[in-house]
Amino acid sequence: MNEAASKKPIGVFDSGIGGLTVVREIRKLLPKEDIVYLGDSARVPYGNKSAETIKKFGFQDANFLVKMGVKLIVVACNTVSSVALDYLKETFKDVPFFGVVEPGVKVAIKETRSRRVGVIGTIATVKSEAHKKLFPEGYEVIGKACPLFVPLAEEGMTSGPIAKSIAEHYLFELREKVDTVILGCTHYPVLKSTIKEVLGDKIVLVDPAEEVAKEVYNYLHVNRLLNGEGGNLDLYLTDIPPHYESLISLFLGERANNIRKVDIENL
Ligand code: DGL
Repeated sequence: MNEAASKKPIGVFDSGIGGLTVVREIRKLLPKEDIVYLGDSARVPYGNKSAETIKKFGFQDANFLVKMGVKLIVVACNTVSSVALDYLKETFKDVPFFGVVEPGVKVAIKETRSRRVGVIGTIATVKSEAHKKLFPEGYEVIGKACPLFVPLAEEGMTSGPIAKSIAEHYLFELREKVDTVILGCTHYPVLKSTIKEVLGDKIVLVDPAEEVAKEVYNYLHVNRLLNGEGGNLDLYLTDIPPHYESLISLFLGERANNIRKVDIENL
């Protein structure tokens, strides 16, 4: 085993704190790994920005984690995974990257019976058709951007009549057309029960986070890079608004202690 390399932390980044839903799954499966998380909370959302800007922000996010000496990077942000994953892999050749698009597609292919799959995400994610491109021929993939889900989740309004009517507004068409829906945005897992209420029990919801955690585990195992004695979680945010503490717990599923503010634009 490469002792020094295995001790390095796992890097995870997202446009904001939504990516903590991915961290939660990684920590369930890999409790002894140290994790450095970067959330670009000062510039969230990415999902309604141009591809050029998303690439630039993604570069700065990854660059910060590379400088922190991580052993791999999980791009928890679906928007960056959809628009800029190949670019990041080419730019930072020495670091393995794990995106969230491919794992979601993999699970959806296993789950669907009708071969008609919905993908919900940000405007940029849906527009990129990144999921659609990964499905083999014979599958119908219907994308639906749900931009209001992000502020809804960030307001902590994950259930109740407002959340439900917004979900109805976005999802009523999908309900009739697909049997599986990929939650293609970091924020959506916290809205899962409302989304389920609207889509009904027969539609399978796919959260790529569990699959990403498995892929990271497999990679570390195969490459003998598992850390047996870590478990720290360091959160770096580009802004720390006052209401974030309770919101972080909502996404992460536990309280976070080490939260620091960081500037990633001038590294
Ligand atoms: N993290 C983003 C994603 O998963 C959602 C928030 C945003 O638009 O930046 O696509």
